[in-house]
Amino acid sequence: MLLKGRKILVGISGGIAAYKVYDLVRTLVKEGASVRTVLTPSALDFVSPLVLATLTGSKPFYRWDEESPLAHVELAKWADAFLVAPATVNTISKLALGLADNPLTAAWSAFAGPKLVAPAANTVMLQNPAVRNHLETLRRWGVEVIPPDRGLLACGDEGEGKLADVDLIRDHLVRALSPKPLKGKKVLVTLGATREYLDPVRFISNGSSGKMGLALAKAVFYLGGEPLVVAADAKVSVPERFLVRRVETAGEMLEACLELFDGVDAVLMNAAVSDYRFSKRFDKKLKKSQKRLTVELEPTPDVLAELGKRKKRQKLVGFAVESENLEENALKKLKKKNLDAIVVNPVSVMGSDRYEGTIIFADGRKKELKAPSKEEAAYEIVSTLLGS
Ligand SMILES: Cc1cc2nc3c(=O)[nH]c(=O)nc-3n(C[C@H](O)[C@H](O)[C@H](O)COP(=O)(O)O)c2cc1C
Repeated sequence: MLLKGRKILVGISGGIAAYKVYDLVRTLVKEGASVRTVLTPSALDFVSPLVLATLTGSKPFYRWDEESPLAHVELAKWADAFLVAPATVNTISKLALGLADNPLTAAWSAFAGPKLVAPAANTVMLQNPAVRNHLETLRRWGVEVIPPDRGLLACGDEGEGKLADVDLIRDHLVRALSPKPLKGKKVLVTLGATREYLDPVRFISNGSSGKMGLALAKAVFYLGGEPLVVAADAKVSVPERFLVRRVETAGEMLEACLELFDGVDAVLMNAAVSDYRFSKRFDKKLKKSQKRLTVELEPTPDVLAELGKRKKRQKLVGFAVESENLEENALKKLKKKNLDAIVVNPVSVMGSDRYEGTIIFADGRKKELKAPSKEEAAYEIVSTLLGS
C-alpha cells in the first residue's frame, strides 16, 4: 500500500495498448491511490471515458468546455505524479517539444512534479532517430522513461515495444514518489533458501519463500538505489532486472557474495542459508536398499561472518529468525559477525504477509517494526538502515 493516498494523474494517448490502462488504474485505485485521467483526442478511439470514470470514480478530462476551461491547470495542481501510459510516439514527440495542443499535452506542460512516460509502439517506430532523440530529451529533463517490454506486438511483429507490465509501471510510480537517499548506491540483496544435497535429487533446505528479500530489493529500487540480487531457491519470481546470480548451496552463495562485495555499498543478507551440509555428497541417487541410513552433517561456510571480516566501507545487515531469546541471540550474532545491524523476527513471520520484528544496531539502539505487509516493512527497514 505504498501508493495509499497519493494522487496520480494518468495521461492516455492513442495507442493500441491503451486497453491495458483499465487494469493499471484499477491496480492503483485498489492500492489506495486517487487516480484521475486525461486523454488525447485519439485516445477516445481506444478507451471509453465511461469505463474510466467508473474505475477511477472521477470524470476523465478529454475536451475543454465552458464548465472546465482550466481543467489542465487544475489537474496539474492536484497531482503528485503524472504518468503517460501508453505514450505514443506522437505524444512523446510533442512532450519533448513542449507542445500543448490537447488536454494531455497541456496538462503535462502545466505540471511541475515527477513525470513518467511508458512508451508503447511498433519496434521500428520506437527506434526512429527522431523518437529516440525525443526520449533522450525527456530523460535529460528528469522524466522517468519506463522501458517497454519485448514480445509479440499488436502489429504482428516480434520485438521491443509492448507497454511495460502493470506491476513494473506501479513500481516506477512508487519510486517517482519516494525520496532518493540511495541514489548511485549498489546494494547486494540475498534471498531464498539454500539447498545442501545428499545425492543428485535429495537435499536439506528450509521454508524461506524469498518474499521479504524481494520486498527489500524493491525497496532499494524505490529509494533510488540499484539492487543486485543473489537468489537461492525462492517461491517468488525475481525480476530479471534485479537478478545477478542464481545459486543453490551455501558454498555458491559465499562465492557469489565475495565476488560482488567490493563493488557494493551495502549488503542485506536475507537469504536463509543452511547452517549444515552433508559431509558426503553421493554422485548417484541412493537406493532404498538399506534399512537404516546414517548421514553426517558438517557446518557450511558462514557467509555473513566472511563478509564481516572483509568489510571496509560497506554496511552489513543480517536477518535472523529466532524462536526464543530473540534480541539476546540476535545481538550475539551481530557482534560475532561484525554487522552494522541485524533485523530479528519471530518464527511466526515466516510465510505470513504481516510483519513484526526489531532492528538492532551495532551501538545497541533498537527500533521496533510492525507493518501490515512485508513490502511496507521492507521499505521502512531499508530507509531506516541505509537512508542516511
Ligand atoms: C489501431 C491503431 C493502433 C495504433 N497503435 C499505436 C501504438 O501502439 N503506438 C503509437 O505510437 N501509435 C499508434 N497508433 C498511431 C496513433 O494513434 C497516431 O499516431 C495518433 O496520431 C496518436 O495521437 P496521440 O498521440 O495524440 O494520442 C495507432 C493507430 C491505430 C489506428
